[in-house]
Amino acid sequence: MPQAKRKPESLFSDDRYRVLLDAVTDYAIYMLDIDGRVASWNAGAKRFKGYEEAEILGEHFSRFYTPDDRAAGMPQRALDKAAHEGRFEGEGWRIRKNGERFWCHVVIDPIRGKNGQLLGYAKVTRDLTERKLAEESLKQSEQQFRLLVEGVTDYALYMLDPTGVITNWNTGAQRIKGYSRQEVIGQHYSLFFSTEDVANGEPMRGLNQALADGRFESQGWRIRKDGTRFWASVVVDPIRNDLGVLIGFAKITRDITDQIEAQRALEKTRESLFQSQKMEALGRLTGGIAHDFNNLLMVVMGSLEVVRRRVPQEPKVLTLLDNAIQGAQRGATLTQRMLAFARSQKLVEELVDAQELVRGMAEMLQRALGPQMRIEVRFPLSLRPILADSNQLEMALLNLVVNARDAMADDGQIIISAREVRLAADDGALQAGSYICLSVTDNGQGMDAQTLSHAREPFFTTKGVGKGTGLGLSMVHGFAEQSGGRLALESVVGQGTTAEIWLPVAQGDILDDVVDVEPLPPVTASRALRVLVVDDDPLVLVSTAAMLEDLGHSAVQAESALDALARLSDGEAVDLVLTDLAMPDLSGADLARRIKQRWPGLPVLLASGYADKLEDPGIELPHIGKPFNQNELLEALVVLCP
Ligand SMILES: Nc1ncnc2c1ncn2[C@@H]1O[C@H](COP(=O)(O)OP(=O)(O)OP(=O)(O)O)[C@@H](O)[C@H]1O
Ligand SMILES: [Mg+2]
Repeated sequence: MPQAKRKPESLFSDDRYRVLLDAVTDYAIYMLDIDGRVASWNAGAKRFKGYEEAEILGEHFSRFYTPDDRAAGMPQRALDKAAHEGRFEGEGWRIRKNGERFWCHVVIDPIRGKNGQLLGYAKVTRDLTERKLAEESLKQSEQQFRLLVEGVTDYALYMLDPTGVITNWNTGAQRIKGYSRQEVIGQHYSLFFSTEDVANGEPMRGLNQALADGRFESQGWRIRKDGTRFWASVVVDPIRNDLGVLIGFAKITRDITDQIEAQRALEKTRESLFQSQKMEALGRLTGGIAHDFNNLLMVVMGSLEVVRRRVPQEPKVLTLLDNAIQGAQRGATLTQRMLAFARSQKLVEELVDAQELVRGMAEMLQRALGPQMRIEVRFPLSLRPILADSNQLEMALLNLVVNARDAMADDGQIIISAREVRLAADDGALQAGSYICLSVTDNGQGMDAQTLSHAREPFFTTKGVGKGTGLGLSMVHGFAEQSGGRLALESVVGQGTTAEIWLPVAQGDILDDVVDVEPLPPVTASRALRVLVVDDDPLVLVSTAAMLEDLGHSAVQAESALDALARLSDGEAVDLVLTDLAMPDLSGADLARRIKQRWPGLPVLLASGYADKLEDPGIELPHIGKPFNQNELLEALVVLCP
């Protein structure tokens, strides 16, 4: 077999190498001559670069470089480096025949002759495009992720090292907590906790819990850089590497202050609605009981008074009777308070100068308090008048002062003050307008939340059986509400209580309408009258009749308005009709109206313990409050039939 002709310049004279090199398709292995021209080509080179051996042999290898790299003289530099240093290794973008770029790893070794003279270069190139693309896409997705995390503004997203030191920080964290990245990275995250929480070990507790349970979720107050608080919802997750070693914690914090506040406001509204519904129901119940009770007391008092006049003057019996009358009177006072709570008492609307009223009460108040307690009165220089019932307002203030006294030691101090407040808008409890706020402040024991929430309920007392009725604040509450105002209570245990009565300021047109009330003439015995008494309650009917007879008058009894009208139609001659107001079928007011039409000269006196509104405000009817005693009855009769 003839020997293949040996080309002296060929570096690949041995066919066995040729076969080997052509079998390698994962590497481009080829040679360059000393100037950088392609001198051999293998299958791998063809595969990645796309050139056939015939078209590339003799071409300069710089054509594989990108135009930029070529312009920068990269190809020659690589050769020089290989020649001088014995090897060049690098990675970079190269161009395939079809113009596509590919990323390759290149090694260039110089090839030297026996004497060390440079003959050319061996070039081994590997296509790493896929790996490069995978790396790039990983890098890109990591970068996108970082941008995403950093860009989130509604959540504070950041990481802690295993000891709780902050290692990174996003825009949301900066927005919510106020610290910039530079200020906070490297600090311990307990920075965001209140001093109390830090003292209680809260920060580490969160991390330990996250470690133990794999996650920690909580809510609580956190502190911003400017010292303000916000309510945070927090999640902490431990982060471990592939080997399971803890490398830190991921922390997500959200500011939910607004949400929590909205929820609190809703709860407060619900609670106050519940309170007002409860008071409403209690009011109806109390009013109903008081109304019936009032009638019964009326019977008892009326009858006792009559009996007292008629029994022989025996001291023992008289004492007992007086006790009974006193007991009944105390009962009547209670029912008055109950009616007041139920907003069902008869109130007189009058102009009240609060300062004058308080001044007038000073002596009485000081007596109620004892010499050691001090009352301080603080009023502004001028105060507009209130529209309210002055007697009831006095009662209300007295109740508040007595409560203050009971809550304090002997040397306590009470402040009575007044101020005018303008409400621009309806605040749920009060309508917009001007109010005078009269307040009684003590520095006594105060009330806890539980007591405070029940304080104005009828019969709620902490003073023990026989000491308090629990109707004081109920009366004040009902009176204030019925007068278009309200009772406000504020109290701190151990520090004291402030009770405020808000009452509407009298408006201009009312001020003009008010005329001075003529004082009542002194009570003198009236002539003997014949009175038609009307009441649907037979007990009340009988006792009223007895009272009248005892006063020297005579009484005709009717059990209903219709019965009364029938008697009058039958020609019953009477000087006066005394009728109950609240009756079934035809009310006392209706009866009065019919009498006014048919017997215009006949006076009618309405008796009521209940502030049933007269349906026709046009009729101004004389009125007597139930229960009344003989004196009060006498007074009313004298006015009507002098
Ligand atoms: N100034 C106050 N300081 C502390 N607690 C108070 C004060 N005012 C009222 N309270 C609490 O509210 C409860 C109810 O008061 P309220 O005036 O209605 O009834 P009372 O004072 O107990 O009985 P009464 O008024 O018939 O004497 C009291 O028992 C007390 O517990
Ligand atoms: Mg009281």
